[in-house]
Amino acid sequence: MKLAIMGAMPEEIAPILEKIGTYTTTEFAGNRYYEATYNNVDLVIAYSKIGKVFSTLTAATMIEHFGAQKLLFSGVAGAISSELKVGDLIVATKLSQHDLDITAFGHPFGYVPEGKVFVETDAQLLALSKIVASEMGLHVKEGIIATGDQFVANEERKNWIGSTFGADALEMEGGSVAVVCDALHVPFFILRAISDAADMDASFSFDAFLESSAKISAEFVMKMVEKLG
Ligand code: ADE
Repeated sequence: MKLAIMGAMPEEIAPILEKIGTYTTTEFAGNRYYEATYNNVDLVIAYSKIGKVFSTLTAATMIEHFGAQKLLFSGVAGAISSELKVGDLIVATKLSQHDLDITAFGHPFGYVPEGKVFVETDAQLLALSKIVASEMGLHVKEGIIATGDQFVANEERKNWIGSTFGADALEMEGGSVAVVCDALHVPFFILRAISDAADMDASFSFDAFLESSAKISAEFVMKMVEKLG
């Protein structure tokens, strides 16, 4: 079984590469892909760069070029739910694109014809994450994640995303990775640790907590990899 582990930023995959230790590096389509075997699982690891377009390219490349059969995403997010504080983990049950808007034609936000507002994540990987969470003694919230090509640092926009999509957290890649995996029938899992509250202090909080929150998420994902071996 070949497993993809993906992040958006270098900080999101650095703890994973560190844990694995040795890997080969391949350049493809303007990005670097790291391959290794860990606990009997063949891995391809990459960070995509920020946003829906780059993450779409990377997820599709990991599946179509590198042959990944499952995909785990690890990274950070802005909290919408007041339950979520910096360092807390959220696992997506389903994801949407909050900036996809052809409402002028009578469609709901996040919808285009032949698409769907929400893409659901894989039930088996969700179940595995529950086992890992209980073994690690961690509370991991399950919820809806909304994705868009915007760093949200605005209470009004954050609240709109929360009420329009019922979203608990927001970020910039999960929804596009979900579309790719769904279309290619690849089970996927999106995990995020909170770095900020998507409010006026978000950019400061993000800079302060990117590394520590990314590490919390990466450690959890590596425990899942160990179970998949
Ligand atoms: N990722 C982490 N925090 C974020 C925010 N406030 N907006 C978009 N993506 C994020």
